[in-house]
Amino acid sequence: MSYRDELVAAALKARESSYSPYSHFRVGAALLCSDGEVFDGANIENSSFGATNCAERTAFFRAIMAGKRDFKAISIVGAPEGEDITSICAPCGICRQVMAEFCSPEFEIILFDGKDITVRTLSDILPDSFKL
Ligand code: THU
Repeated sequence: MSYRDELVAAALKARESSYSPYSHFRVGAALLCSDGEVFDGANIENSSFGATNCAERTAFFRAIMAGKRDFKAISIVGAPEGEDITSICAPCGICRQVMAEFCSPEFEIILFDGKDITVRTLSDILPDSFKL
């Protein structure tokens, strides 16, 4: 299995931990650090909807708290509760901006539609990103 296949498998597993009683849309992510360690995440919703954390940011914030600063790739999978993955789940704008804080333009976003893997770079999905 390639690291991309392994990351997709880890994201599918992470999706099982989704807390999404409001949208019933379950997302999983798996973030590969440059040192080979993987941090997973799921979306965690809140009755105050704006407090919801996406799966990608859950994975990033866990990794940052563990001292990681160099990242290679993230896989993301999402689908409604009770359904298998049938289309890609592209990261929201806030998650793209979080990626831009910590990742190079070559950072890989690995998307899975239930059958095939599509790989984008951060510069593909967030060109001309804001930086201080
Ligand atoms: N969601 C993610 O976890 N990642 C994304 O990139 C898009 C959206 C979550 C947030 C919310 O819990 C649910 O999907 C519906 O928006």
